[in-house]
Amino acid sequence: MKEEIEKVLAELDELKCLTRKEVEDARVRFLGKKGEVTALFEQFRTVGPEMKREYGRKLNELKQTVTAKIEEFRASVSDNAESDGPKEDLTMPGDAFEPGSRHPVSIVRQQIVEIFRKFGYDVAEGPEIEDDYHVFEALNFPPNHPARDMQDTFFVSTGHVNPLLLRTHTSSVQVREMESQPLPIRVICPGRVFRNEAISARAHCIFHQVEGLYIDKNVTFADLKQAILLFAREMFGPDAEIRMRPSYFPFTEPSSEVDVSCNICHGKGCNICKGTGWLEILGCGMVDPNVLEASGIDSKVYSGFAFGMGVERIAMLKWQVNDLRHYFENDMRFLREFSTATEV
Ligand code: PHE
Repeated sequence: MKEEIEKVLAELDELKCLTRKEVEDARVRFLGKKGEVTALFEQFRTVGPEMKREYGRKLNELKQTVTAKIEEFRASVSDNAESDGPKEDLTMPGDAFEPGSRHPVSIVRQQIVEIFRKFGYDVAEGPEIEDDYHVFEALNFPPNHPARDMQDTFFVSTGHVNPLLLRTHTSSVQVREMESQPLPIRVICPGRVFRNEAISARAHCIFHQVEGLYIDKNVTFADLKQAILLFAREMFGPDAEIRMRPSYFPFTEPSSEVDVSCNICHGKGCNICKGTGWLEILGCGMVDPNVLEASGIDSKVYSGFAFGMGVERIAMLKWQVNDLRHYFENDMRFLREFSTATEV
């Protein structure tokens, strides 16, 4: 038994452990259930009583020496984290970190807001769930106007005088401004609007608008025309021209729809402007005196203009996107095209 103890000590002298795995292998080899030191303890049971004391002491010393040595190796390899070999191949290219970017609709909305801010407009927001009064009644919609029909409007609650609904335009925010703000008012109202329309390349049941309102003494149609022209030139370039076509809205009189000269063919006629050289961008008009009076503004002293545009429509024209649905589907291949766009 003496020789066996010496043999183990000699092996221990030779032992070298460079990795955690080698340390663990050595522990199993000497101290494991079938390890060499464990085997010697088994053998110790057969030793005669006269030798028990001496061998007992030797064996215990051996076990301590082996344990100490293995602990020493364990400490030295754990100092060196790479001793198992690196867990990962550090020479591999890293996973690309893809930062998010702003949605094209947000980019254009922000541009529209910035342009009007430069002109001195404030920004106002209001509730998306509105009542009939602020969306229709206060804006001079006759009781049987088709926009009030279930076909066009999502109602949240019906059956009473002032039902709740999802706003169909942000003109409702303009009403709230007229009710609550001191005159003069110069404000734009960006926000999400809802219409009960079949989804197609040109229409969606949810889209975004920026509507504007200016009320002061002596505001005229000429002021409106100038504001829209300046906006069009900021948005579509210094050569942009506008034309106004007579139109109808219950809340403005006179009313007009505005086209901007096609920024793709510059008036020559292409498939985006359908050969006309003009693209429709917004609706506008002089605020109807009934609308001013409904919000407690004296229409004999004050006048004003209002306008409203669809953000997706402006974005489509700027980027020549021919299907509105791209803006809602969040296809990364589409969105990535705008990841570096700070300017359209
Ligand atoms: N509110 C109108 C719409 O949603 C747009 C508009 C606003 C027209 C202001 C004229 C004046 O279609």
